Amino acid sequence: MKRHLMRAVILVLILAGGLGYLVYTGFEVFVPPLASQEGTRIDQLLRFQFFLIAAIFSLVVGLAVYAVLVFRRRGDEEEAGEYIHGNPTLEITWTVIPLLIVLGLSAVTTRDFFWMRRPDYDMVVKVTGQQFAWIFEYPDYGIKSAELVVPTGKRIKFELQSVDVIHSFWVPEWRVKEDLVPGLTTYVYITPTQEGEFKLRCAELCGVGHATMRAPVRVVSPEAFEAWVAEQMPPADPVALGEKLVSQYCASCHSLDGSQRVGPTFLGIFGREVTFTDGTTATVDEDYIRESIREPQAKVVEGFQPIMPPFGPDRLSDEEVDAIIAFLKTLEK
Ligand code: CUA
Repeated sequence: MKRHLMRAVILVLILAGGLGYLVYTGFEVFVPPLASQEGTRIDQLLRFQFFLIAAIFSLVVGLAVYAVLVFRRRGDEEEAGEYIHGNPTLEITWTVIPLLIVLGLSAVTTRDFFWMRRPDYDMVVKVTGQQFAWIFEYPDYGIKSAELVVPTGKRIKFELQSVDVIHSFWVPEWRVKEDLVPGLTTYVYITPTQEGEFKLRCAELCGVGHATMRAPVRVVSPEAFEAWVAEQMPPADPVALGEKLVSQYCASCHSLDGSQRVGPTFLGIFGREVTFTDGTTATVDEDYIRESIREPQAKVVEGFQPIMPPFGPDRLSDEEVDAIIAFLKTLEK
């Protein structure tokens, strides 16, 4: 008996060592590099849980494999094994130990959860998600952007809002993920630690354009961030303003180069003859564009889904709509 136990324990230790080494070296291969302060706790927990899983897996599978191989029935053995009924010590042990592990993990997780969500921050970025684009607003600076630019070393409070369905704010390198829920403002706090270019991905299936609902993320030094802020003041020229607004609000669904996306391309849109889903036709002019921005469902072009959200005056002013029209007029074929 002693001999079997020794051998089984050696097998379990070898298995645990091998798996532990795989977890140790494989973590960086499967998990993208960490780029936020909040993520450090998540990585600690994740690593610890992987080691724990490797250890428990080795114990269970090691003992099972040893028993199956060594105590298998051989030749024409007729004799049955000894009949054992119950073992309270063993049963209490294998109930209490996992219970303590799970309680311990939930305590650490709860502590880290409240640490990540503690309400202190250096700046606010308002994030609006809509099918299928992201808009970032910097209330301290009066800036709107389609690109998320943030400085390192500042704890940023992202205020998340959705205008239509549930989306999810996720930059894998920052680890933390938070849903955007229509009718609610949700929050996530991030302190970027690494400069570089990342990608914000929508992590909640939100419709046909879900896969393209991404936004560029640039983490820069605090000085470079101030310089970027200075560049962001809205352009005075209507065509330049229109171009900026189109890239912010429209370009993820309407291409500028003639390719098909979720909505009709903007290339050569002025004067185009269009057929609507009800069979009527029209020529694209200023009034039609204006109506399609304010009330997109009024006339839907044949072959496209009626999914564009309306842009009321609270989201695009009349001057901004005029600027978009001025820019669209320049997109001749
Ligand atoms: Cu928004 Cu998926």
